[in-house]
Amino acid sequence: MARTCLTVILAAGEGTRMHSALPKVLHRVGGLAMVCHVVNAAKAAKCNEFAVVVGRDSEKVEAEVGALAITATFHEQSQRLGTAHAVLAARKTIARGYDDILVLFGDTPLLNAAALTEMRKSLADGADVAALGFHAANPHGYGRLVIARGQLTAIREEKDASAKQRKINFCNAGIMAINGRKALEMLDAIGNSNAKGEYYLTDIVEIARKRGLKVVARQGAEDDMQGINNRAELAKVEALWQQRRRKEIMLAGVTLLAPDTVYFSHDTQIGEDCLIEPNVFFGPGVRLGSSVVVKAFCHLAQTSIADNCQIGPFARMRGNVELDQNVRIGNFVELKNAKFATGAKAAHLSYLGDATIGAKANIGAGTITCNYDGFNKHLTQIGEAAFIGSNSSLVAPVSIGKGAYVASGSVIVEDVPAGALGVARGRQVNKPGHAAKIRQKAISAKTRSKG
Ligand code: UD1
Ligand code: MG
Repeated sequence: MARTCLTVILAAGEGTRMHSALPKVLHRVGGLAMVCHVVNAAKAAKCNEFAVVVGRDSEKVEAEVGALAITATFHEQSQRLGTAHAVLAARKTIARGYDDILVLFGDTPLLNAAALTEMRKSLADGADVAALGFHAANPHGYGRLVIARGQLTAIREEKDASAKQRKINFCNAGIMAINGRKALEMLDAIGNSNAKGEYYLTDIVEIARKRGLKVVARQGAEDDMQGINNRAELAKVEALWQQRRRKEIMLAGVTLLAPDTVYFSHDTQIGEDCLIEPNVFFGPGVRLGSSVVVKAFCHLAQTSIADNCQIGPFARMRGNVELDQNVRIGNFVELKNAKFATGAKAAHLSYLGDATIGAKANIGAGTITCNYDGFNKHLTQIGEAAFIGSNSSLVAPVSIGKGAYVASGSVIVEDVPAGALGVARGRQVNKPGHAAKIRQKAISAKTRSKG
């Protein structure tokens, strides 16, 4: 039978150094709250049950984590008395009885499933406590893993460490795997007589050893363990996350002409043979089929684009946009809540909001859907193979029938039936020879005003 696992995520930190109204763990990396990255890493290590330890103003954290497909309980730690104290806030859930308890921090979004799987494997192989260490370029501030004769004997916090121990660069990531059947008795034995007067989770190592239990140290990569305390660290982790995602996307068959200038979200999906030009931003919820070309300077969010479409340069898709195959969206076109059927085109300078556009329809330059009357949004429907002449305003709600034609410069306020020509503009009048008269008039006026 598969071992049961409870993942305890510590997220009660106030995050004062973020200087933010938002709880620290809700700041985003790749468009996803960092605590959700941690949950996803645990899920990928086959852990589906969570106990999240939250501080004050925890509703937002509960809402965001609760939206993921997991089983989660939330436990408020009203006073921050240390990492062991925080884990014990989840006592009730731990007491239900699990084979494995994983303790993770909510502010380490680069954590990956491989490290967590390793930790769980240690428990399956008979360890009672497994700690995760990494070799730090600069160990300052971290707890140090003290290894004697190949055995992990203690974890010393910087403030409590001897001068000799401070020279150790094998550091505690904070992640811990604990035998779930013995976790509570070990946690309850942790005291707070140390430099900070806090209940340190790390003391569990010595407690387990004193009881003759098995303790092991595992090793991970420093980059994966980075915790975030301020916005500079957030930016650094975002950069690393983007770098990794770009590489994955390129290795999956997407060409990025200037990878460092393209930004992805956690859920961006891109098919093979897509080509992404420089300076493109993928907000959340974007899906591209295969062989899509996104030209430079596009900003896309909540958009689904089918195979062989061509987008941009300088296109903006603000949400709920669906493009069927072979659609062309050109420069300075903004789309919101818009559906384009196969082969439809809007090649230049348009705003199309709350609109459906039929297959092979052609939207001329400067076409605007007037979708908002200051109170409500209204729909514009454009039929298959319709042609909208340049600089037309389509005042919604309005529909342009199949194969219909709208004359350039029209302000369309009534439906145009299928196959009809809709013209809605002043008729042109040419007055032969009139140009010279006008010029003469203008010149005399100017002379008079100077005289
Ligand atoms: C902790 C580890 C240290 C490790 C470092 C890695 C302990 C005693 N020390 O130190 O060995 O090298 O992380 O970054 O575990 N939290 C609560 N409630 C509390 C205290 C903490 O929820 O009462 C949460 C924080 O929000 C944070 C995490 O636990 O997510 C770690 O706490 P923090 O104060 O950052 O611990 P460090 O001193 O960094
Ligand atoms: Mg910390």
